[in-house]
Amino acid sequence: MTAVGIDAMEIWTGKLKLDLAETFAPAQGDDPGKYTKGLGLRASSFPDVYEDIVTMGANAAHRLMERKGLTPEDIGRIDVATESAFDNSKPVSTYIAGCLEQVYDENFHHANKGERKFACISGTQSLDDAYNWIRAGRNRGRAALVIATDTALYARDDPGEATQGAGAVAMLVDEDPNLVELSTEQGYGSADETDFLKPNQQFPSVDGKRSVNVYLARMREALEDFAEVAGDIHPGDYEMIPFHTPFPGMVRKAAALGYRHIVRGTDVGELLAEEIGHQPMRSDFETDDEFHAAIKEYTDALTETERYQDWYANTIEPTLEISREVGNWYTGSVHIARASGLKHARENGLDLDEARLLVASYGSGAQAEVHAETVVPGWEEEIGALDIDEQIRNRYDLSFAEYEQVHDVHNHDTEADVEEFTAPEKEFAFDGWGRMGERKYRYVE
Ligand code: HMG
Repeated sequence: MTAVGIDAMEIWTGKLKLDLAETFAPAQGDDPGKYTKGLGLRASSFPDVYEDIVTMGANAAHRLMERKGLTPEDIGRIDVATESAFDNSKPVSTYIAGCLEQVYDENFHHANKGERKFACISGTQSLDDAYNWIRAGRNRGRAALVIATDTALYARDDPGEATQGAGAVAMLVDEDPNLVELSTEQGYGSADETDFLKPNQQFPSVDGKRSVNVYLARMREALEDFAEVAGDIHPGDYEMIPFHTPFPGMVRKAAALGYRHIVRGTDVGELLAEEIGHQPMRSDFETDDEFHAAIKEYTDALTETERYQDWYANTIEPTLEISREVGNWYTGSVHIARASGLKHARENGLDLDEARLLVASYGSGAQAEVHAETVVPGWEEEIGALDIDEQIRNRYDLSFAEYEQVHDVHNHDTEADVEEFTAPEKEFAFDGWGRMGERKYRYVE
């Protein structure tokens, strides 16, 4: 079977930065530790005045095509995953293709375009769609462009405000990939939930605390479902586990749950039992409350063990480095977690050729998907081509008053006339409104 997977990727961060400890916390009257230690975030990215989901997505895709020497003829499919769309009919992929056609002689008229919606998990669903399209032999030798792009904004003073972010990830899905090969092993946990939704509104209605529990519940189901197809999992099976990362503190909780699950019945589980006792079983308790209290006590003891901490430091922590600096990118979030882990491995000289990754995606509403990937030779060069550190460093550092203006600029219900903070250069930029209310874009030399 020919390998199919992610051949290359590019990441584009919004060009503005809100420092959570230095700028946001004092304005909110909060201890900075709530953000840096509790949520695990240092900063959020925001789009400048001339940026939006189209420009960020088009810029990431353009850079990807240029680096790989591609023309529109090489692309048979453009799928955009977003939950920040501004049009209920015309998909963002058509706007992005329109942008790209400004800079290429050829067009994308032959390419199938679409838009995927299922909160943050739609980035991974689009990847799955591209994989299936190629596997089904419908691609006629062409590759798919998958673009996850979002402006993850919350209403002002919503508890989610500290977890905002904006950016895009463009991924080229193709045969014989150079980054990771996707596998057919997938597990799902899916249920009708109302933890986070946007019923015809821009900013989400969020039951924040419940959303955390729903994330964990669906992730547990997805892991169980994954084991049905992949067999029992051992903690040593996967070099890294990139999770959907709304904020690193969420992954801290999910990793502990995942580890509890995957050590059961393994030699590692036995060694842990000698150290901190066996995992509590529901049948040993009369009430749910007693059981949950015992699970919490066990998890606290587990996360204090050296064995767990070593596993976390190697398998999870590296995947969180980019996210700490940029916040939640919704559909792109799990994909920057993968990139972050691989980037860490490259910078630390780790050999990941043929290493396995367990990728844990999630979207509110709610669905988790766990799937396996194999890192393929070529990954170091691909990851080495990313300039995300430079982009993060070059962001304009907003004052709180400027942040308030930027939030207004991107709020669909407010009129705000604000000067741009950075100057666009060799990139697509928003260029006003067309006669039918469409957004227009131009390439700035
Ligand atoms: P909150 O009420 O502002 O924060 O909301 P908190 O009081 O719960 O504190 C956060 C953590 O910081 C806690 O840690 C505190 O103890 C700790 P925990 O107990 O949870 O481990 N803390 C401190 N630590 C050190 N020093 C201090 C300090 N103070 C407090 N001084 C909440 C948190 C997550 C609810 C909020 O940010 C929120 O509503 N976020 C948006 C929803 C969200 O991200 N949910 C995550 C799961 S759902 C998901 O991932 C899907 C999503 O991406 C959307 C999609 O799929 O489309 C959101």
